[in-house]
Amino acid sequence: MHTGLAAAEKNLGKMGYLDLVVDPQLDLVEAINRLKKEKNAVILAHYYQESEIQDVADYIGDSLGLSQKAARTDADIIVFAGVHFMAETAKMLSPQKKVLLPDLKAGCSLADSCPPELFKKFKEKYPDHMVVSYINCTAELKTLTDICCTSTNAVAVIESIPKDQPIIFAPDKNLGAYLNKKTGRDMVLWNGACMVHEIFDLERITKLKHRHPNAKFIAHPECEEHILAIADFIGSTTGLLRYTINDQATEFIVATEAGILHQMQKSSPDKTFIPAPPNNNCACNDCPHMKRNTMEKLYLCMEHELPEIILEDWVIEQGRKSIDRMLEISEEAGLGLRD
Ligand code: 13P
Ligand code: SF4
Repeated sequence: MHTGLAAAEKNLGKMGYLDLVVDPQLDLVEAINRLKKEKNAVILAHYYQESEIQDVADYIGDSLGLSQKAARTDADIIVFAGVHFMAETAKMLSPQKKVLLPDLKAGCSLADSCPPELFKKFKEKYPDHMVVSYINCTAELKTLTDICCTSTNAVAVIESIPKDQPIIFAPDKNLGAYLNKKTGRDMVLWNGACMVHEIFDLERITKLKHRHPNAKFIAHPECEEHILAIADFIGSTTGLLRYTINDQATEFIVATEAGILHQMQKSSPDKTFIPAPPNNNCACNDCPHMKRNTMEKLYLCMEHELPEIILEDWVIEQGRKSIDRMLEISEEAGLGLRD
């Protein structure tokens, strides 16, 4: 367990409030909205959260938008409806604020695939390399990183680095391979991956495409190369959402976590969205970590102001530089917050 998670769990103490039962008669939307006002709290939610949580959030976005919001909010409490690395990033950007995560166990298979102590040894083999890390990594990994990136700004981040400067890219080998192709670089890739984006089934997707010949197939760059190879469009969650709004097509097969379909459907009620099938019997693909957060846990977390994300000062100090640099590059590239 990494330091952030250990410290936050210690902070939970013996309260065990996660076991508390919420009165089934309680109007959770009303209660959450009341707590937001009473406590001057803001709810930031990722697109992969369940739809009820998205609907009660103050801001819904991708990893870049969420970190930009976290950096500039004037709320006293940031309630992060997302996963642990996202809440850690919010804490690093707003260390004076209380950052809450409804379920501390909402982790990330991609972040877990790159333990900082192993990465440190790996990095020693490439002393001349700069490190670019996907924001989907632990706070501690960010202390070993020169610049963070998200799937929205990754190309801009890599292109901001001189061509003759060698780079290590961590932790996602699929996104790294996609970026190598897109930018013509030869970055050294850490061998990590996201369990949700690695599970899409080419055969089932191909059959689905045959049944829906007019549908556009769109995919997140965390997917494997053979899935990306058949995509009409590749982009971050925000990129995919914007594409479905602006493209003429009326049907889309979507290869990313199925939570994004809620905003797609809300933005384009007359279009049809079909989640790309994984290689099991499920019809769509949910991230088990993202889906650990529920309305009940969101309410409890706001009521009790726990679990709180606690990070050691040195982690905030050293890790923050890589996020600040990412945010500067994003502004320079015109990728600032639109709303
Ligand atoms: P983005 O929303 O930044 O595209 O990231 C996707 C993701 O996997 C978050 O966990
Ligand atoms: Fe991590 Fe993948 Fe879930 Fe995103 S979808 S939180 S990268 S496991």
